Amino acid sequence: MPQIPQELIQRIREAADIVEVVSEHIQLRKTGRNFVGLCPFHGEKTPSFNVNPELQIYKCFGCDAGGDVFKFVQQIDRVSFTEAVAHLAQRTGIALPTPSQQPADELSDQLYRASELAAKYYHHLLRQPQSREALAYLQQRGIRDETTERFGLGCAPAEWDAFFKVATRRGFDPAILERAGLVSARREGKGFYDRFRERLIFPITNLSGRTIAFGARTLKTDQQPKYLNSPETPIYHKSSTLYGLHQAREAIRQQESVLVVEGYMDYLGLAQHGIEHAVASAGTALTEEHCRLLGRFARRVVLVFDGDEAGSAASLRGLEVVLATGLEACVVSLPGGHDPDTYVQAEGAAALLGLVAKAGSALDFHLEQLAQRHDLRTLEGKARAAEAIQSLLARCRDAVRRDLLLREAAQRLGIDEKAFRQQLQESLRRQTPRAPSPPQETGPAPPPPNPPPAYEKAFLGLLLNHPQLIASSADQLQPEVFADPRTQSLARLLFGEYRQARELDLPALMGRAGDPELVQLISSCAMEGFDPEHIQQHWEDLTRHLSEAPLTRQINQCRQALKQAEREGNTGEVDRLNAELMHLILHRQRRKPDPSS
Ligand code: UTP
Ligand code: MN
Repeated sequence: MPQIPQELIQRIREAADIVEVVSEHIQLRKTGRNFVGLCPFHGEKTPSFNVNPELQIYKCFGCDAGGDVFKFVQQIDRVSFTEAVAHLAQRTGIALPTPSQQPADELSDQLYRASELAAKYYHHLLRQPQSREALAYLQQRGIRDETTERFGLGCAPAEWDAFFKVATRRGFDPAILERAGLVSARREGKGFYDRFRERLIFPITNLSGRTIAFGARTLKTDQQPKYLNSPETPIYHKSSTLYGLHQAREAIRQQESVLVVEGYMDYLGLAQHGIEHAVASAGTALTEEHCRLLGRFARRVVLVFDGDEAGSAASLRGLEVVLATGLEACVVSLPGGHDPDTYVQAEGAAALLGLVAKAGSALDFHLEQLAQRHDLRTLEGKARAAEAIQSLLARCRDAVRRDLLLREAAQRLGIDEKAFRQQLQESLRRQTPRAPSPPQETGPAPPPPNPPPAYEKAFLGLLLNHPQLIASSADQLQPEVFADPRTQSLARLLFGEYRQARELDLPALMGRAGDPELVQLISSCAMEGFDPEHIQQHWEDLTRHLSEAPLTRQINQCRQALKQAEREGNTGEVDRLNAELMHLILHRQRRKPDPSS
């Protein structure tokens, strides 16, 4: 990671208000000193996502995501720390060191520039005489001029290296063009050739509207593949890109739902008919990442797929994915060999929106599909259907929604709800647990299964909120009094700040903590609430409790051992342990007046 000076990072953090940044992604409501909203990182219906404007941190009590504004941008935009810093620097108008110090960003920048050049080139070419055929094809498909302009459609010429030549003449490095997926190296000898030739071009943009990739349709009737797409590149990740989302995001927000179609042409067909709240999962099946992305804009996802066998299969897969991310999932199965594009052209927008309004729930669709394969009146059929529904339910991570689905499914299949629930519990137990938030880059050792004791977290929360208490805490307590290794590390970190005479700066502390688990612990402790009138009393109680904690643990162990010895009738051991217990208890009593000894 290139070094960005710490003080610069600090300045950016101060300038970028976390409440404002988070508000761009979710709706926040003020409660007390915090803001709360629905967590963008896991599916939920009651808000457990907290943002604290004083501390400039966020914390979700549902999935444990938490951190400062950089961490938030990292998580929500799926970018590196450096990219998050760069993004917020730009937003706040703070200049970063020259790009030469940031190789990763420089590469992205070059890839963006290459993609933008390609988009311009193909779009320009569409209006040239050599593209007559492509233009006619668009017209024949009912694509209007304004749509062509709005989405920057283009045409790649029937030449081997037309774009390559144009780009290199403009000084683009062939290696960059290749990294951008625009050209390929020739197998033998030297040279490159264009990836896209003699095809209609659909530029794919990221959320900010920058071109990152292309889909390209053949103009011939039976050329394979029908659509050729850009490969994955450092700026294009298929599993988290949706065609049209940049243009549709506001409409999706307003409609509070999003239509998902499969094809570029389907998306454009809907947009042309005024149906703006749609996206296309072009070139790949719908992923959980796609859904999490959509969940930032709307909670209801309507899959509008072809009515044929392939469409149904895609819908079933899609539904599971949508449900898994905790969103509401519905399906529209189009009639009679239609796809969304042909349907809207034949029947109009109102007809399609009518189908969307009546869209069946995930369960409706599943049951319908199951009814086609099994006779749901027979015991055997019910059992098979129950099994299939279980796998759908098991993937649904929103517990409330899962339970609702379970009840409805049991009722509709006419099977016993209790048995059904038990079966589900078992398959949930068997299921390998998934991380609720995006995977961390570094793999920390798996945490001890138990959370740290509440009073340890409360104590650290007190210090984080009232740093003036850190000095006397560090004087009176050893980090070892904390029973949990995580709280112990945090205590060590905090006491270390004091010893190095650093003022407590929470985001900076998180930066120094490094370990993501520790960062989470910091934000979760910092969010603990305290009665402001009894801070001192609270601190004294907790300090006493903590300073006695090792002894208390020893006493408890001794008691356990004593019980065991008594059970075994080991009188010698019983005597010894009794004496030890007495000694420990006396020791604790003697210590009471002076917790620092
Ligand atoms: P379809 O085959 O349903 O085509 O593929 P379509 O979208 O209706 O296209 P038109 O109407 O014939 O022009 C749906 C989507 O699947 C991806 C594309 O994103 C396409 O839009 N696809 C399809 C590919 O990536 N490669 C292919 O070879 C075919
Ligand atoms: Mn089509």
